[in-house]
Amino acid sequence: MKKRILTGDRPSGKLHLGHFVGSLANRVKLQDEYDQYILIADVQALTDNFENPEKVANSVRGLVLDYVAAGIDPAKSTIVVQSMVPSIAELTVFYMNLVTLNRVLRNPTVKDEIKQKGFGDTVPAGFAMYPVSQAADITAFRANLVPVGADQLPMIEQTREIVRKFNQLYGETLVEPEALVGEFPRLIGTDGGVKMSKSLDNCIYLSDSEEEVTRRVMGMYTDPNRVRVTDQGKVEGNPVFIYHDAFNDNKEEVADLKKRYEEGKVGDVEVKQKLAAAINKFLAPMRTRRKKLESNPDEINRILREGTERGKEVAEETLRQVKTAMKINYQF
Ligand code: TRP
Repeated sequence: MKKRILTGDRPSGKLHLGHFVGSLANRVKLQDEYDQYILIADVQALTDNFENPEKVANSVRGLVLDYVAAGIDPAKSTIVVQSMVPSIAELTVFYMNLVTLNRVLRNPTVKDEIKQKGFGDTVPAGFAMYPVSQAADITAFRANLVPVGADQLPMIEQTREIVRKFNQLYGETLVEPEALVGEFPRLIGTDGGVKMSKSLDNCIYLSDSEEEVTRRVMGMYTDPNRVRVTDQGKVEGNPVFIYHDAFNDNKEEVADLKKRYEEGKVGDVEVKQKLAAAINKFLAPMRTRRKKLESNPDEINRILREGTERGKEVAEETLRQVKTAMKINYQF
């Protein structure tokens, strides 16, 4: 049997090239080899968006469009909506007894996010507890592997602790997952910042039009020390060339541009125009797949309904096993 993989995203907006490089590309690869579940973690998204649930709800269908556009095949990958799987919430309640308050608050990812979001002394309990809910996500689907970026490693560690505690208390029941830390290069922002981030407005979205992509690329940061075309430019660490390396499949063109840039023989405009063309070429098959699905909203419904149905069955079976192990499988 194929090993099972679980990945997940919080629905809170559209996906960008950074998401593609960092995780979607990997999922597209993994879906052939593994039994892949992709969780649309709307309950988790609500932990810091509870004041505007419509933002979360409105992002769900767009996420499916982004997935399919990126190359995720719903016939191979099961796409599940978290809030429609109540077993996950039930598991969360049982697991809450297996962690201490101090332990969740010491979770480095949660700590960072609390700082980042400026919660101060007003951290919602639901937010602080989301690692427990994520442990429920992972174990509900009995995932063997969870592909993650480094920032999510503490979540897997916390899940493993909960699993070990559960199995030790109630008998061997839950699958202890392993993190699959691939080589997920992080894509810098168009402004050269460490990563693409919606709030910094330095993203190129998978759903951007050709014109939007061109506009974004023409506004990109390059070598700040290069004033005139004839100045010798720096390629290393230059956002425009980092993107050329990532998205331009014409390696000769890239090599030529780099050489001329270093010699002061090519202007930023040409380098950027060629980059915009390369990214648009890269996005072209995604646009085709998106267009097709977009014109068929019933198909989006079907993907969500059937994926969630399958996910629900798996999670319900886990919950049954959990209740049996805990001897609360009452037969009244
Ligand atoms: N915490 C993840 C993120 O912010 C999303 C997520 C929710 C997840 N449940 C998951 C990831 C289960 C992997 C497995 O990106």
